[in-house]
Amino acid sequence: MRHVYFATFFLAVLTLSVLGFRGTRSTRPPLELFPDMDHQAHLKPQAESAFFVDGRADRPIPPYTVAYGFAPVEHKLGEDDANLAANDGLYRGKAADGSWLKTFPASVTVDAKLLARGQDRFTIYCAPCHGALGDGQGITKQYGMTTTPTYFDERRVKLTVGELFNTITVGSLPTPEGKRNMLPYADKLSPEDRWAVVAYVRALQRAQVGKLTDVPADHRKELGL
Ligand code: HEC
Repeated sequence: MRHVYFATFFLAVLTLSVLGFRGTRSTRPPLELFPDMDHQAHLKPQAESAFFVDGRADRPIPPYTVAYGFAPVEHKLGEDDANLAANDGLYRGKAADGSWLKTFPASVTVDAKLLARGQDRFTIYCAPCHGALGDGQGITKQYGMTTTPTYFDERRVKLTVGELFNTITVGSLPTPEGKRNMLPYADKLSPEDRWAVVAYVRALQRAQVGKLTDVPADHRKELGL
């Protein structure tokens, strides 16, 4: 039995002498049994780096980056924002009297090119939840995101283009608890791209709820009817 006590005592002394007591100060670097990823090659802020062509370790901010927490709509208009103020329609989807735009801003031309861009961005940023058709049956539904609605119900078909634009900019309307079930996409889509997506959402809606009478008479025969 005695040798078991000796072995335990020896093991305790060995462990303490190697690892030390917790909280003991030492000038020597600690013994790291599991270094994880503590020590890695890295660049210090504002240092030089031969790796990048411009020689800077700091990388420039990519275009259209919006700082986290920046709320484009609550933004207070200052003197420098005269451009923003003059373009309320383009940037906020609002008319001069503060109401939601019912038609696209003058600087946005709704043509096949805009729709193609809208489809491209929609497929990347919206279809995972809203589905390629806009029926709310995106892939995320299978993984528990059950609240994504269809675009084709009576209320949503009637949303103005300004409201659609605003939904993309700030997210869906807050719930009574102040939570937005759909987050904003202003940091990922420039205002121009948001309008392209709005045009595409409208096209998806028309494809489902449009009537023959919506098609100009001289184009109806193209439908083969
Ligand atoms: C992560 C999933 C998700 C993504 C991605 C997403 N949405 Fe949504 N969206 C939702 C959910 C959930 C709601 C319902 C929010 C609610 O009613 O509270 C919603 C609601 C909406 C509505 C209806 C707003 C209303 O007033 O009823 C519109 C329009 C919309 N989304 C457009 C878009 C567009 C355009 C994109 C792409 C830029 C997009 N969504 C990306 C989940 C998403």
